[in-house]
Amino acid sequence: MTTGLLFVCLGNICRSPLAEGVFLHQAKARGVLDRFDVDSCGIGHWHVGAPPDGRAVATAKRNGVHLPSIGRQVDPTTDFERFDLLLAMDASNRHALLRLGAPEDRVKLMRSYDPTLAAAEEHELEVPDPYYGGPDGFDRVFAMLERACGGLLDGLAG
Ligand code: 4NP
Repeated sequence: MTTGLLFVCLGNICRSPLAEGVFLHQAKARGVLDRFDVDSCGIGHWHVGAPPDGRAVATAKRNGVHLPSIGRQVDPTTDFERFDLLLAMDASNRHALLRLGAPEDRVKLMRSYDPTLAAAEEHELEVPDPYYGGPDGFDRVFAMLERACGGLLDGLAG
């Protein structure tokens, strides 16, 4: 049995592809990749079939991380059964998943797994959308996702 993890953001070209790539990279390094069924998707449909944003690819590449994502929209008819955890990048993504009928106990904010944010309020647990900002936004998001993926793996794979 594998654990299904779906990383979810708005466009599926910046944050969730980075989260997916970082998670796969860390899981591989820990030798536990085969324990997981991992994918990413967007709430919106604009970037279906598209590779990740070039700035996300560049940030990942500098850190030795490959981003396998091809853009797709969330599919409530299959995703809410297939995946054990729906990991939303921000509160808006989380609420969109709930409105689409996702089971509440499976919908989590990605940064709630960052052990350094254990005492944080919900509004402090968002991964900010770097799409309209400069390249440094992608580096900040990458560092947030490294910490969150580490905490997620600690909890799921020891
Ligand atoms: P993401 O960023 O949700 O992190 O992939 C965005 C990318 C594209 C758009 C919005 C957010 N967009 O509106 O096209």
